[in-house]
Formats: sequence, C-alpha cells, structure tokens
Amino acid sequence: MMLAHVLFRFGEKGLGPWCLVQRMIMEKSCRALALMCLLCVGCGEPPPTPLPDEITTETEDLSPRLRRQVARMLRELCGPLQAPHTVFSDGDASLKLGFSTFQSYCTPCHGALGNGQGTMSEYLDPRPRNFRRGVFKFVSTPYGSKPLRNDLLRTVRHGLPGTAMPAFAELNEKRLAAVVDYVLALAVRGELEIVLSQIAFDEDEVDPELAAEMHESLLEVWRGADEQAIQPLSPELPMTAASIQAGRSAFFLEGCAGCHGADGRGRTRDTVGDDAWGRPSKPWDLTLGTFRGGSDAEDLYLRIAGGISGTPMPGYLATLQERPETLWHLVHFVRSLPPPRVLPDTTPPNVPTEDTN
Ligand code: HEC
Ligand code: HEC
Repeated sequence: MMLAHVLFRFGEKGLGPWCLVQRMIMEKSCRALALMCLLCVGCGEPPPTPLPDEITTETEDLSPRLRRQVARMLRELCGPLQAPHTVFSDGDASLKLGFSTFQSYCTPCHGALGNGQGTMSEYLDPRPRNFRRGVFKFVSTPYGSKPLRNDLLRTVRHGLPGTAMPAFAELNEKRLAAVVDYVLALAVRGELEIVLSQIAFDEDEVDPELAAEMHESLLEVWRGADEQAIQPLSPELPMTAASIQAGRSAFFLEGCAGCHGADGRGRTRDTVGDDAWGRPSKPWDLTLGTFRGGSDAEDLYLRIAGGISGTPMPGYLATLQERPETLWHLVHFVRSLPPPRVLPDTTPPNVPTEDTN
C-alpha cells in the first residue's frame, strides 16, 4: 500500500517507478530493494510497464479462441489502449496524452482499463466508477442518457465533494480535455466489449461487419447527447420562504421523503436497491450541505430534473412537466436544509433526552 502510494506520487511528477528505483539506489536508501531489482532485470533497459489483458471480466465465460476474437475486434475498432480512437474530438495525439495522464493520476482508483478496480478502490465508499458501463451520474442530460463531454470535464476539474474523487484543478486545459476523452474512449470500448462478448457467447463467433455496425450505433448514441441537454422548464424563481415551504410539501408528495427520509438524512432503509455497478445504493444525506454534482441552484435543478443515472434516484422532468415551478421549489427546499445537521422539525424542542432522564 505504502509503496503503491509512493509510486503514485512519483508517477504524478513524471518520475516512473524505474526512475524511483534508480533514485533509491543512488541515495543508498534501500539497498535490499536495489539489489533485488538489479538481480531481476539486469542493468539494461528499464522493464516495460505491463499493461493488463486488454479484455477483462466481461469475457470470463468465453473460450480462449472467442476471447482472442473479441480482443482483436476491439483493437481494430477502438484502437490500442495506449492511443484509442476518439469519441468526440479528433486527433489521436491527444489520446496518447490522455493515456499517460490517466495512468499517472487515475489508475490507482479507476484501474488501468477504467473498470473501477484500481489498487485503492476497495478501501473507498462510494467506489471509484467503472467507466465500462458507459453510465455517468452527475450529468446534464435526462436519466439514462449519455453525458455531455462538458459534464465529465466539470467532474474532473472540480472533483466530487463528499467522495474520494479529487479535483484535478491543477491539470492544464489540454491534459484535462485529453484525460476526459480517454475516459470516454474507455467507456465506449467497455460497452462494445460487453456487446461483442454477448454476441460471441450466443453465436460462437463474431461477424466483423456486425461488430462494426454495433460500434457505429454506440457512437451515434454518444454523439446525440448534446441534443438531449436539459433546459429548465421555467425560469428560476426567487428563494423565498413560500417557495421553500412549497418545496417541503413536494418533498413528501413526490416521494423524495420515501428514500431520503422525512429529515432528508437518507436513513429510512438500509438500501433502496442496487446501482448499475452491482452495489447497494444509498440515498444521499441532503443535510450535509455537500452535493457531488454541485450545490448551485442550477446544479440541483439538473439533479432533480434528470435524476442520477445508474442509481434508483429517478428524474422528475416528466412527472413535473405540468407544474414546472415545483422543480425550483424542491431545489430551494433542498438548499434550505442547513448544515450543520439539525434535528428534524418533528422533534419538539426541549424534550429531555434519555441521558438526562
Ligand atoms: C482517490 C481515488 C480517485 C482518483 C485518483 C480518481 N477518481 Fe474519479 N472517482 C472516484 C470515485 C470514488 C468516484 C465515484 C463517486 C460517486 O459515485 O459518487 C469517481 C468518479 C469519477 C467519474 C464519474 C462521474 C460521474 O458523473 O459519474 C469520472 C468521470 C472520474 N471519476 C474521472 C476521473 C479521472 C479522469 C481521474 C484522473 C484524472 C480520476 N477520476 C481520479 C475516485 C477517484
Ligand atoms: C427511489 C429513491 C429515491 C427517490 C424517490 C429520490 N431520491 Fe434522491 N437520491 C437517491 C439515491 C439512491 C441517491 C444517491 C445516488 C448515488 O449516487 O448513488 C440520491 C441522491 C440525491 C441527491 C444528491 C445529488 C448530489 O449531487 O450528490 C439529491 C440532491 C437528491 N437525491 C434529491 C432528491 C429529491 C429532491 C427527490 C424528490 C423530488 C429525490 N431525491 C427522490 C434516491 C432517491
């Protein structure tokens, strides 16, 4: 764990693990390790960084022949992992940069293939995202739709407050865009792998033409995301006491309290169902004052209107079509739930606690 952390830190500064070993030798700080490394690899070229098997868990049930077939098609259609084809922007050069940025900054959590199984992942809750389902939570499109490229840029730049996902504000614009494009490439690659593996499993082979068609139709869905961006149904209202009160009623009437609890702290049930990545989903504690997708009124509007894809949190855009101002009331109510946590309204003041009895 410690070594992984050190390698990760040096990786960030452009010093690969091999340079680190050399440095340790020079500093005579770790003779045993140096000796071991020299015995293993000799004094020539640094050892190549091993890349994991290009296809992973999705193909577990396939024979080695079919696995090789799927891997070959993935490589042909999506490009090699070190420089995959882009999904939105053009030019493969940026994805080489995306690859190296991802390896340095993201792999410890998200895993080299973006499957969410980096070395640190099992210690984190919520877990780092597996990008290979093509599902993203904090987006500005309706439930179940693909994210905008801008949504991902925002997540990587600002991080997800209240989770381990850090803000990478210090990355320059070029690197930021490149790493986001790389995440998108991993997502499409993962989705295609799942589809091709299913075809291979059912048909005992994959027709290259069918594979190319599948790839193209996946890309079309991604490219269509822009048209789906949510526009507010009505202009923002001022955050008055009356609006907060109306939001409070809607919180109960529209079923929010059923998951988030009457006090908004999300303690109603242990679980409200599994998420798209196979883990129990937990309603967020709305009284923390921290929202992963942002705390501005517009951010919360998108969250409530669009829901949170891949989780049981539904979108309310269609339900509230006829009462569009209710969406703003709900936003105001959620924003009014104050940090630090307060006791719910339902607890009368000055009730003696068990301790004082
Ligand atoms: C220390 C661990 C950690 C590191 C390092 C990390 N992430 Fe994350 N990331 C997370 C966690 C945890 C989540 C899931 C949070 C959640 O589901 O609420 C996440 C989620 C995401 C998401 C999904 C957002 C959404 O809308 O669903 C993206 C995109 C992302 N990370 C990109 C990156 C990129 C790019 C890097 C490297 C530049 C990176 N992450 C580095 C922990 C990390
Ligand atoms: C079926 C259960 C369910 C219902 C109904 C529900 N939510 Fe949620 N909500 C969730 C879950 C689960 C999460 C956390 C999702 C995750 O990231 O895993 C969540 C997260 C949130 C968040 C956090 C967003 C962020 O940026 O971190 C807000 C805000 C929210 N819900 C508001 C509401 C409001 C307002 C309503 C009613 C209009 C509502 N929810 C209805 C289950 C529900």
